[in-house]
Amino acid sequence: MRLVRSTLLIVAGLALGACGGGKMMAESSMPFGGNDSVQYAGQLWKALQAAGMLGDNAVMSKPYKGQHPHGAVLDTIEGPVKVGGHRGVAIVKRNYGGDNVSTASVATNPGAFLKAVTVMYKRERGYDSDNNDWFWAKYLADGTLDKNPAGMQLAGRVAKGKPAGCIACHKAAPGSDMVFNHDRHR
Ligand code: HEC
Repeated sequence: MRLVRSTLLIVAGLALGACGGGKMMAESSMPFGGNDSVQYAGQLWKALQAAGMLGDNAVMSKPYKGQHPHGAVLDTIEGPVKVGGHRGVAIVKRNYGGDNVSTASVATNPGAFLKAVTVMYKRERGYDSDNNDWFWAKYLADGTLDKNPAGMQLAGRVAKGKPAGCIACHKAAPGSDMVFNHDRHR
């Protein structure tokens, strides 16, 4: 058993070595944080701005009190968004915090309290059939991607196969759609 395992490790090591120490690993074998995911997240951010779902005059819901790991106060909206040739629903949750944060202060001046934006975007069928084809991203208020403690950017199938992270936690949402706030079927 041990022999088999170390042989496998050597084979895997050779395969990685052959393509530049894993740097050029295919995106499909990298669930999140790779170039394709990061670029896609950039396109998605622009598409959300164009759709009026982000920015100073963005549509917003009535702010509500949040729970960990999302912010102290949140607002969540959703709507169809086009990225490249694909049209899918985007659920955008803005996470607010800071001194004097409250549902009232956020309603009055959302921009002053915005800390992060977490997005679920329904991609084309087959993108991640294990997880309802959701693309996950966590941006800071300025649109740059947030990172996990290992320095990986939070965009793509975050963190598929890991015990914690967007996918692991959202799997517990009722209705097997990975959405907590309501059930949705594509
Ligand atoms: C530890 C559990 C947990 C983790 C990790 C988590 N979420 Fe959530 N998320 C929730 C809960 C609970 C809700 C519903 C309550 C609310 O609105 O905060 C929610 C709501 C959302 C919503 C609104 C749609 C819905 O499901 O109701 C979005 C979008 C979202 N999360 C994105 C993300 C992204 C992107 C990540 C990873 C960067 C993430 N979440 C990580 C628990 C989690």
